[in-house]
Amino acid sequence: MESIWYLCFVVILVMVLSVESQLTTGFYSYSCPEAEEVVRSTVESYFNMDSTIAAALLRLHFHDCFVQGCDGSVLISGSSAERNAVQNSGLRGFEVIDDAKTQLEALCPDVVSCADILALAARDAVELSYGPSWDVPTGRRDGRVSSSSEASNLPSPLDSIAVQRQKFAAKGLDDKDLVTLVGAHTIGQTDCAFVSYRLYNFTTTGNSDPSINQSFLAQLQSLCPNNGDPSKHVALDTDSQTEFDVSFFKNLREGKGVLESDQRLWEDSATGYVVQKYAGNIIGLLGLRFDYEFPKAMIKMSGIEVKTGTDGEIRKTCSSFN
Ligand code: HEM
Ligand SMILES: *[C@@H]1O[C@H](CO)[C@@H](O)[C@H](O)[C@H]1NC(C)=O
Ligand SMILES: *[C@@H]1O[C@H](CO)[C@@H](O)[C@H](O)[C@H]1NC(C)=O
Repeated sequence: MESIWYLCFVVILVMVLSVESQLTTGFYSYSCPEAEEVVRSTVESYFNMDSTIAAALLRLHFHDCFVQGCDGSVLISGSSAERNAVQNSGLRGFEVIDDAKTQLEALCPDVVSCADILALAARDAVELSYGPSWDVPTGRRDGRVSSSSEASNLPSPLDSIAVQRQKFAAKGLDDKDLVTLVGAHTIGQTDCAFVSYRLYNFTTTGNSDPSINQSFLAQLQSLCPNNGDPSKHVALDTDSQTEFDVSFFKNLREGKGVLESDQRLWEDSATGYVVQKYAGNIIGLLGLRFDYEFPKAMIKMSGIEVKTGTDGEIRKTCSSFN
């Protein structure tokens, strides 16, 4: 009899420990029931003032996950912190995360991690942009390391397919995940600095990138004039900057990708196959649909090297360690 009780105890202990070491949906349903609602309403209020904030929040979560795992390391301020790496220039939306955190600390102090706020905000941002929604597994803890020198894992818009593939594979993400996740570029914008070299000085003779559709080249050149104006931005999906749809993939198919790295996805046979499927957006068994695959790929990305259980900490302020 005693041994049965002992066995039960061990089984329960193992269950508790295994739950603690992984993410679960509704992690805060007892400890802070309003957590997801507070994040949602905060994102929504900023979105209502400026819908381009959605793209910023989605990118912020991606940049968090690729360096030190999804642990809020990108939120730390300071000159040598991750957020100040060149790869992170142009990141926006920090004030939205800080605002949600302030409200959550008033409601349930020391409970909700900044890393989870980022993951939830990314989901809400996509949904507000008329994209798909999904349940976000939560229970991440915040990291205690943030260093600009570690940001080199992040992809560059000049990366070849081989390099993009290798950087994603290093995080457990395959070709399909790569294409699906880069589909986030269906919303948002880029600084012309990441585009102008393709328009005016792609080869040493000063030509444009031959993979740009000729009719699109003139359009891009007018959006990013050859005067190096640093304030100019251009939509990554020039057909619908604020709508989470498949026009980004249709554009790649027609040579209308804005970033060089995006256009390369169409030229490789393995990634090009996925681009073609998403651009077709066929309903039914044979179609690989972007709106079904994006949530799955996001849950995968949001789980990269997460800290759970007793690892890390729950920050009081997202921009500084406790
Ligand atoms: C090969 C992979 C990728 C490369 C090379 C890349 C590169 C870039 C670049 C250069 C920008 C413009 C930044 C600026 O000028 O401020 C950008 C913006 C953006 N990226 Fe990516 N990215 C990649 C993957 C991803 C992934 C996986 C996501 C999310 C799941 C993502 C989400 C975004 C969003 C939403 C924006 C727009 C940000 C805004 O409007 O503020 N990107 N990306
Ligand atoms: C054009 O590209 C070359 C080689 O990449 C570079 O050395 C040069 O500075 C660029 N010129 C301009 C005007 O950006
Ligand atoms: C270039 O764009 C035009 C007009 O938008 C389109 O009809 C054409 O198919 C594109 N060319 C290529 C090679 O995709």
